[in-house]
Amino acid sequence: MPRTPAELVAAEPGLAVSFEFDGRPVTALPGQTIAAALWAAGVLSWRTTRVNARPRGVFCGIGTCFDCLVTVNGRPGLRACLVPVRAGDTVTVQEGHGRAELAV
Ligand code: FES
Repeated sequence: MPRTPAELVAAEPGLAVSFEFDGRPVTALPGQTIAAALWAAGVLSWRTTRVNARPRGVFCGIGTCFDCLVTVNGRPGLRACLVPVRAGDTVTVQEGHGRAELAV
C-alpha cells in the first residue's frame, strides 16, 4: 500500500492543477511548491551551474542554498522550493545564471 505524506496525515487536498515543465505537463496539488511537484513527477534536477553545467535540484529545501533555481513564466532565478505552483505556469530549466538574454 503506497504511503504518501497526504495519506499519512489524512489530508483531503483539493483538485490537482497542471503546469508545464520544459514542454511536458506536470500535475500538482493545491499549494504544492514547484520543487515538490517536480519531485513527485520524478524530476530530480532542473538547473545547471554556470561552471561545468553541473546538475542541480533541491538541496536545502527551505530557500537558503539557491540550488533549485528555475525560470517561471520567463522570469529566472526563482527558488522552486519556495514558489507554489499556479495552474498554467510555464516552468523551464535554468541554465547558468538565467540571464542569457542579457549576454553581449
Ligand atoms: S533547495 Fe535550497 S533554496 Fe531551494
